[in-house]
Amino acid sequence: MKRQVSAAFNPDAIAVHDRSARPSSDYEFAFTEDDFGFIAELVRCRTGIMLAGHKRNLVYSRLVRRLRILGLSDFRSYCDLLKDNGGSGEISKLINAITTNLTSFFRENHHFDHLYQTALPAVMSENSSEKRLRIWSAACSTGEEPYSIAMTVMRSRRTLDGWNVRILATDLDTDVLSLARKATYNIQSLKNLPAPLNRDFITSSTDSQIQIDASIRKLISFKELNLLDSWPMKGPFDVIFCRNVLIYFSGETKSELINRFSSMLRLGGWLYLGHSETLSGGHSDLMLTDRTTYRKIS
Ligand SMILES: C[S@@+](CC[C@H](N)C(=O)[O-])C[C@H]1O[C@@H](n2cnc3c(N)ncnc32)[C@H](O)[C@@H]1O
Repeated sequence: MKRQVSAAFNPDAIAVHDRSARPSSDYEFAFTEDDFGFIAELVRCRTGIMLAGHKRNLVYSRLVRRLRILGLSDFRSYCDLLKDNGGSGEISKLINAITTNLTSFFRENHHFDHLYQTALPAVMSENSSEKRLRIWSAACSTGEEPYSIAMTVMRSRRTLDGWNVRILATDLDTDVLSLARKATYNIQSLKNLPAPLNRDFITSSTDSQIQIDASIRKLISFKELNLLDSWPMKGPFDVIFCRNVLIYFSGETKSELINRFSSMLRLGGWLYLGHSETLSGGHSDLMLTDRTTYRKIS
C-alpha cells in the first residue's frame, strides 16, 4: 500500500554504524546509540511512532526477546538483519514488539456515555431513511475498545431494529488483532464492564477467562491497517474512535491524520480522541462539543 504521510525509509541514509561506539555496560546485549537511532528511524518511517532518546531502555526491553529468539548476540546484528532481511517478516515482528497496546473495556467511559446519549440518537435521526450506522475504531489494540462500542450500540438494539450496523476495527499490530478476534479476556477485565452489559454480553466465564457474546462479535470486522498507509474504506463513517495513538506521532503526522479522519466522516459525524490528544487549531471543520469529542460541522 502507498504511504501517505511519512518519507520512505532508507537505511543507508540514516545509520552508518559507528564501529567504535561503546556499548552500554548496563545491557546484556550490546545496544549502541547508533543501533537505537537506526531502529527509531525505521519505526518512525513505518509507523509514525516517535521514539525519543529517553525511550532507549524501553526499546531495549521490548526487543531483547527477539534477539534471544533469533539467537543474535548484539543489536548490531539485529539491525543488520533488519537491513538485509527486512522484507521477510522481521520488521513486522519489530513493530509488534514496539507498539504500546494498553487498553481496557470502557476506557475513558465519558466517550461511551456520549455515544449512547448523544451521538447514536443523532445518527438514528439523521440516517433514519437509509438505516445505516458505520463506526470505525482506528488503532483498536486487543479489541476492548470496539467491543465496548458494540456493547454500547447494542444497548440501543430495540431502536436499531432493521438497521445495517457495522463496526470496523483496525490496527497495524497483527499480534493484538489475533487476540482481538479471539474475544477472550482475563476475568479481571470484568471490573471495567458495567453490570448490565456484563450480564447481557458475556457468554461464558471461567475462573480465569471471559468470552464476548457472538451478538457483539458479529458486529465487528477486524482488519490490519497502518494509519500511515492509504485507506481502502470508502466511508463515510458516522463515528470514529481514534484514541491514545496520535500521542505517539509528530504534530505534522497527527494533523494530517486528523484531516484524513475528517474526510472520512459524514457531515454531522463524531470523532473521539484520547484524553491528551486535543486539537490545537487548523481544523475548523471539527467542532469541540465535549471532552476530546469533535463533531464535523463543515
Ligand atoms: C495505546 S493503544 C490504544 C488502544 C485504544 N484505542 C484505546 O484507547 O484504548 C495504541 C494502539 O495504536 C496502534 N498503532 C500505533 N501506530 C499505529 C499506526 N501507524 N497505524 C495503526 N495503528 C497503530 C498500536 O498497535 C496500539 O495497539
